[in-house]
Amino acid sequence: MSSHPTLSPLDLASALHDLHPDLRILGPDALAGRHPGEDPANFNAGVMAQPVSTEAAAALISWCRANHVAIVPQGGLSGLVGGGASRAGEVLLSTARLNRILAIHADEETVEVEAGVTLEALQAALATYGLTTGIDLGSRGSATIGGMVSTNAGGILAFRNGVMRHQILGLEAVLPSGEIFGDMTRVVKVSAGPDLKQLLIGGEGAFGLVTRVVMKVEPVRPHRAVALLGVENAASALTVAARLRRHPRLLLEAAEMMWPRYVRDHATLKGFDLSWLDGDAAVLLVEVSGESAEFARALLEEDLAALWDDAGLKGGIVAQSSDQARRFWDLREESGFYFAAFPNAPSFDVSMPPSALDDYVAGLLATLATIGTGFDAYVYGHIADGNLHVAIAAPGPLPPDLKELVETAVYAGITAAGGSFSAEHGVGLDKRAAYLAHVDPVKQTLSREIKALLDPDTLFNPGKVPF
Ligand code: LAC
Ligand code: ZN
Repeated sequence: MSSHPTLSPLDLASALHDLHPDLRILGPDALAGRHPGEDPANFNAGVMAQPVSTEAAAALISWCRANHVAIVPQGGLSGLVGGGASRAGEVLLSTARLNRILAIHADEETVEVEAGVTLEALQAALATYGLTTGIDLGSRGSATIGGMVSTNAGGILAFRNGVMRHQILGLEAVLPSGEIFGDMTRVVKVSAGPDLKQLLIGGEGAFGLVTRVVMKVEPVRPHRAVALLGVENAASALTVAARLRRHPRLLLEAAEMMWPRYVRDHATLKGFDLSWLDGDAAVLLVEVSGESAEFARALLEEDLAALWDDAGLKGGIVAQSSDQARRFWDLREESGFYFAAFPNAPSFDVSMPPSALDDYVAGLLATLATIGTGFDAYVYGHIADGNLHVAIAAPGPLPPDLKELVETAVYAGITAAGGSFSAEHGVGLDKRAAYLAHVDPVKQTLSREIKALLDPDTLFNPGKVPF
């Protein structure tokens, strides 16, 4: 543990106060009145530095290095694996005030932004130009571009556009040495040696602070149609998605699946009518865009009718208004509903080739049932790229023996199938054991060597991903 044992949050706050004119410091009192975001431990450090410029971030980082004070980078506080959690003696390094959109190159379909811009703010600014981000996710209102870079966020459009890594053309960061790594290329094609910025994409704040990026964007397609469909299994959902992806006049914008327990419990809670759904089917949400909303809806209805029997559909409804479409989406995106019934329900975020999903879910639910009568899970996710979210229908944290049984069940066969124990939320604190168990040992060693080279004093986000 490298953080200085003697500096209290108050001492740290006063030591940092006059360090740089572009650095704002919030001490324990200022932080006490603020919401810590998704993780109650986010503000435990009790002192936060908010740089307004890259130079101020560099000054803070150099000071921390000289004084052996650990740094926890923070973005929108929407992380789900404890990656931003902190302890007394550390300094929070927040990008909240690095929130300028620096340039929109509309014709080139690229933007330059500071790390603290939220996804939603960027989407709103781009809308003026008829553009939007090629990545989207439910926590768009709070998630920052820098945080999304650090976790290599995925979201709804990954099946088509890839994940954050594939959206980033250029990147600026302050390294643990205090040096500014400047690689703000604005082009797709760079064939000039290894792409070192990839270390910071998905690096979860262990290799430095991302301060700016150049990102690809794409034309907005505003005319949408949304449907909920009853499906027997993932194979049936994937048949629908594949067919819509081949449609000459529609573009598939989302294919999100909710397994039976998830959709039924959530619909009951919301008073959402599922009487159109046959039996105990799962539900697939599809969204398409087309030349006009009416046209998209008509083509979607026509296509669904044509593939009804082939895909074995078990009922369906097409949204007749944007309000109704929003209600369909709320059923999928407001996924935290199960935490009311099961506080701290253990939750997972896994991925695998889509064709492996049905066997995986069947195996998982069967194994969970052997752990205890009625032991079950909420399963939902981004079906077209094979990313499932799994929440155990039990309050957490589980006792150690049960935790081990559950984790064995959840992670069974994933690596062999070619998937990942962590699809889009990261490793943080919560998935450390899984990282050690499932990541190739040679890769683990190499990552630790690179970490030691860049951050020899382990000042950046210590105790998280075991790099
Ligand atoms: C979702 C977030 C939790 O897909 O990743 O709902
Ligand atoms: Zn997700």
